[in-house]
Amino acid sequence: MAILKIARMGHPVLSGVAQPVPDPTAPEIARLVQDMRETMEDAPGTGLAAPQVHVPLRLVIFTVAEERAAREDGAAGEAVPLTVLINPEIEILSDETALGWEGCLSVPGLVGEVPRPTHIRYRATDQHGKAIEREASGFHARVVQHECDHLDGRLYPSRMRDLSRLVFTSELHHLNAGGNEGSTE
Ligand code: NI
Repeated sequence: MAILKIARMGHPVLSGVAQPVPDPTAPEIARLVQDMRETMEDAPGTGLAAPQVHVPLRLVIFTVAEERAAREDGAAGEAVPLTVLINPEIEILSDETALGWEGCLSVPGLVGEVPRPTHIRYRATDQHGKAIEREASGFHARVVQHECDHLDGRLYPSRMRDLSRLVFTSELHHLNAGGNEGSTE
């Protein structure tokens, strides 16, 4: 296993469209997943997309810890175990959007308030070749949308409506007193 170098905003690998993974069960994909997991845990982060570690493939990993889910969504919060999504597809299930604070390991030190659809369905293959299909709402839905945006070369600031809500994490408490410290990665 290895901790991988994380690309930062401005590196071209973050703005390209990633390629489908031809064989999700290939040994090099298993190794990539292990290294991404170690990199995400070291950062620490809640999600990581392959282009962020300079691999332009359609693969993301994420997890939502129980305490994080509760902090973001209260009683409705859903914890999600570590999940590997290979060649994911997202279907938007609601017209409703919500604003939430996001951070990104490729945009270190900053967080921004991003509108996202509140309810989605996603389909993917895991690293064992098994199909995954889930519905997600709240923070879970937000994290999946954020990570999958990386596969199409999108970083969260390009989703923002109000760039005055792009701030240093250390200053967020001025805007968000009593709220969570929010960041998706
Ligand atoms: Ni990100």
